[in-house]
Amino acid sequence: MQAVTVCRQATIEDVEPIYIMIENYSRQGIMLPRSRAVLERQIHDFVVAEIDGIVVGCGSLCKLGEELVEIRSLGIAEGYKGRGLGSMLVEQLVHEAKKRSLFKVMALTYEVSFFLKNGFTVVEKEIFPEKVWTDCVNCAKQHACDEIAVLKILN
Ligand SMILES: CC(C)(COP(=O)(O)OP(=O)(O)OC[C@H]1O[C@@H](n2cnc3c(N)ncnc32)[C@H](O)[C@@H]1OP(=O)(O)O)[C@@H](O)C(=O)NCCC(=O)NCCS
Repeated sequence: MQAVTVCRQATIEDVEPIYIMIENYSRQGIMLPRSRAVLERQIHDFVVAEIDGIVVGCGSLCKLGEELVEIRSLGIAEGYKGRGLGSMLVEQLVHEAKKRSLFKVMALTYEVSFFLKNGFTVVEKEIFPEKVWTDCVNCAKQHACDEIAVLKILN
């Protein structure tokens, strides 16, 4: 039978699978950890990808300025990558950003080619305001950040 794939706004029931996903990637040093309490507070900024009712991906928006928003905590579970789910989540997040009149969507990432395929361009990190870096105090690599900044301007 064909698997049913859904990309939707996250609800409070999704906190645990999102928490586990982020924990896994943060242990590998490719995401910043998020506590369950923070996820509960910010759940309305999250979207999830589901296959046959099981959450296999997530991503969130974090408003950083009048028009600027960051895609954070974007991840697809091992075994489900390369099926277009990450792109689906990015598309949903971009759609949501537009609805909120946030026309500059950025991300800090190691997955540059993935973001290029999704219409982002590589930019200098220095163009972003101070607020982008507030989360970095929680990162072990804060003084040697090797992530690449990508940006998509919506019209
Ligand atoms: C990055 C990530 C979200 C991509 O999700 P995904 O579901 O595997 O991506 P998709 O299947 O939608 O891929 C879309 C396109 O990008 C390509 N792509 C995906 N990951 C890629 C990578 N690491 N390098 C190069 N190209 C990549 C795919 O081949 C596909 O191209 P195609 O449409 O020409 O076939 C996923 O690999 C992931 O969870 N990575 C670990 C966490 C992470 O680094 N998140 C980013 C934090 S900002």
